[in-house]
Amino acid sequence: ADWHLSLLDTIYRLPSTYAPADLLSVSNAGIAGYGSVRRHVSADLRALDRAARAAGIRLRVVSAYRSYARQKAVFESWVTRSGYDTAVRYSARAGHSEHQLGTSFDLSFVGGRDPWEYTDFAATRAGAWLKSNAWRYGFVMSYPKGAERLTGYAYEPWHYRYFGRTLAAQQRASGLVPRYWLWRRN
Ligand code: DAL
Ligand code: ZN
Repeated sequence: ADWHLSLLDTIYRLPSTYAPADLLSVSNAGIAGYGSVRRHVSADLRALDRAARAAGIRLRVVSAYRSYARQKAVFESWVTRSGYDTAVRYSARAGHSEHQLGTSFDLSFVGGRDPWEYTDFAATRAGAWLKSNAWRYGFVMSYPKGAERLTGYAYEPWHYRYFGRTLAAQQRASGLVPRYWLWRRN
């Protein structure tokens, strides 16, 4: 029930047994792409997608909920490809990922590449729009630029987490990265 307060980072983690019981396909929200999210996120995900469309942008979900087992496999593939020291900067170890909450997404746009393939996804029209507007619908960028020492992860302009509209507005106004904002709030 504390989905909006759960602090996951390189220290705090979820149990391997945690999986949300109320996952729905993102397509229920009318957005393009694949994956599932918790039920209570759907309405604002729909609102985000609609607002983006009104601005001429078709968002696409690249990755949403990931189980503990899936995150374990993702992290291990990073280690195989890039070595442990690089893997921990870009990928969460199993249990530590916000994707396991079922409230986080990696976003790109229809017809676009995977967002990490751009030099800076926030410099694309979709990425820039999200950076300016996602908070209005309750979504915050977890790993902003130049904040690796604070967030624990390299810049990820495509990774958004749902806080709900009220808390997302408060976090934005605070000027703190989401992790620090949560820390203070908890
Ligand atoms: N890329 C982020 C840190 C994750 O794996 O959850
Ligand atoms: Zn992500």
